Amino acid sequence: MNKLCSLTLATALLCAACYSSEKTSTGIGTRVDSVLALMTLDEKIGQLTLFTSDIDVTGPTMRENYKEDIKAGRVGAIFNAYGAAYTRKLQEIAVKETRLHIPLLFGYDVVHGHRTIFPMPLGEAASWDLAAVEKSARVAADEASAEGLHWTFAPMCDIARDPRWGRITEGAGEDVYLGSKIAAARVKGIQGDGVGSLNSVMACVKHFAAYGAAQAGRDYHTTDMSDRVLRETYLPPYKAALDAGAATVMTSFNEIDGVPATGNKYLMTDILRKEWNFTGFVVTDYTSIMEMIPHGIAEDTASAAALALEAGVDMDMQAGFYNDALAALVKAGKLKEGLIDEAVRRILRKKFELGLFDDPYRYSSEQREKETLMSAANLEAARDVARKAIVLLKNDKQLLPLEKDVKKLAVIGPLADARREMIGSWSAAGDWHKASTLLEGVKQAVSAGTQVLYAKGCAIDNDSTQAIAQAVRTAQQADVVILAVGEGAWMTGEAASRASLNIPGVQQRLIEAIYKTGKPVVAVLLNGRPLTIPWLDANIPAIVEAWLPGTMAGQAIADVLFGDYNPSGRLPVTFPRSVGQIPLYYSMKNTGRPMDPNNKYTSKYLDERNDPLYPFGYGLSYTTFSYGPVQVDKQEMTQQDELIVTCTVTNTGARAGKETVQLYLHDVTGSVTRPVRELKGFKQIELAPGASQNVTFKLTAHDLSFYRRDMSFGTEPGKFDVYIGPNARDTQGTAFALR
Ligand code: NOJ
Repeated sequence: MNKLCSLTLATALLCAACYSSEKTSTGIGTRVDSVLALMTLDEKIGQLTLFTSDIDVTGPTMRENYKEDIKAGRVGAIFNAYGAAYTRKLQEIAVKETRLHIPLLFGYDVVHGHRTIFPMPLGEAASWDLAAVEKSARVAADEASAEGLHWTFAPMCDIARDPRWGRITEGAGEDVYLGSKIAAARVKGIQGDGVGSLNSVMACVKHFAAYGAAQAGRDYHTTDMSDRVLRETYLPPYKAALDAGAATVMTSFNEIDGVPATGNKYLMTDILRKEWNFTGFVVTDYTSIMEMIPHGIAEDTASAAALALEAGVDMDMQAGFYNDALAALVKAGKLKEGLIDEAVRRILRKKFELGLFDDPYRYSSEQREKETLMSAANLEAARDVARKAIVLLKNDKQLLPLEKDVKKLAVIGPLADARREMIGSWSAAGDWHKASTLLEGVKQAVSAGTQVLYAKGCAIDNDSTQAIAQAVRTAQQADVVILAVGEGAWMTGEAASRASLNIPGVQQRLIEAIYKTGKPVVAVLLNGRPLTIPWLDANIPAIVEAWLPGTMAGQAIADVLFGDYNPSGRLPVTFPRSVGQIPLYYSMKNTGRPMDPNNKYTSKYLDERNDPLYPFGYGLSYTTFSYGPVQVDKQEMTQQDELIVTCTVTNTGARAGKETVQLYLHDVTGSVTRPVRELKGFKQIELAPGASQNVTFKLTAHDLSFYRRDMSFGTEPGKFDVYIGPNARDTQGTAFALR
């Protein structure tokens, strides 16, 4: 059926026979046009408008009367509303009380879990386990869709190389290759069997583009970079997410090359739609059309709205500027209505694909809520991902894993029993009351005869040292101390930049006081970003990076501390020694004067080393692995060849363990300079004690390609070094050439 049936127009919009019989894209296209033909200009603009409901608002609420807006057809989508009953109630307003009965779209920031909270995304990326990452997104989408949501504002695909930026916690870290793989895995998990399948939601790739490159790590700040860096480093993860089928894109707050992303036609039209053939819709970030006025590119509501629409932005989140300005611009002949029609088409198409015209309430299911939300299986998945995310940074004399049967164990520190902090920022509808703490996890894990002592020691970020003495007394009574330090959930996420990356408050004083007791100390870091911890590394024998692990924090950390899980996480981001080194990332350029400690006039600092505290890809295990020589199957490859690179990895320790074998490439010379190394592949292998495995990678011309001098993407003949190892630093290599 290609056109509306003969029922009254209003009924026809919801007529299953009209909308469900043809699911092909042409079928949907016809239906979209048939709806568009019924719409007034104001109704069209309403479809381009997204307003917040009243839960969990993260910016100015522009519209107190958003329910009136729904009724009047001034809004096509709502965010920050969830729950089967609540979304149904709001949907009823749209479906029953508006002239055309067009259903609403419900969006929400389901970033690392919906009710069951998984580790914050940077931590999750530390698993380097794409199946685990996909699973976490799948569980989140399953729970979110049961609560009536159709759309999540995730994944965040912003490459971030500055840990001062609090939002580094929301992405996959510094690397193009790992970031792209994780972005794609997240989209697959979020969209499951595709837009329209009942337990999936639409993904929204954000923040387009280069939001992670905010100058000085200060949120919302300017980004500026060459087109080469933009395309080579920042764009690939967004592209990978779109190639995985992501339905929508969100603009970023920052300007880039002098033009705010929300008014940036080069990004939204030239790259996104023309080069990448993106057919979904683009939404702004929160009030970012309005923010083009203080940016200094639009002088009033009308010019900001026109700039955004003409740049290719379909939906206005929360500014209300499209509502306020577009109709008058069209009527005055200053804006083509066709542009509005195009944007409406893209949004209606998604509503059709979601099946909302068949059944506007299909996702609001009390039954599914009961079965799905925080189910035992979902909690188990969260525990599994959280322990896979944990990175063992140091383990002198095999202090870890701890015995479950010791006389007295002290758990000390402001993060030891900090329930709220465990689920991190952007924890959506997660209920922190249901999260477990490290103290609880330890108590559950140890034997009945083990006494667990506890002292908080100090607060996360105030300067009172009063409770430190009590913590020292507690430590003195124990055989071993677990010291939980780090950051509060509020210290990462949006608007949470820090100029210092020390462990905040007086926690360092607490750490040093506990260290002086001479007791064996295991430091557990609970934090959302890399911290500068050279003192800890120099003095504390065992250090565990647990991130902010989510609902199952306590159990997951205990699994690692007591050896029920052998740690396998690897850093997705470099840990600097000091803030002055930032930006510090492994895929740097060599410079013409690479660092030479014996030559003053080389690229280095007077007061700091060049190398990081812990390199990208780094993480220890309770076992050890050795790497054999790296071999290539040919010394020279052609454009058509596949180069096989192999290396034998052996478990040389006494426990079974998982190793993440990483392959890095270095293009020795090019028409433009190339990074000293770039990750081009990784494999996770499980090895029994004493076992070896031959790990094989295939490289093709595509892996050797880059943006050449003329900005064409391809290879250049020449020499390459290829390295394999457990992180970006400790590698072995060999060479080959491309003919
Ligand atoms: C602002 C944030 O930058 C963005 O990531 C988020 O999705 C929106 N607010 C909606 O909450």
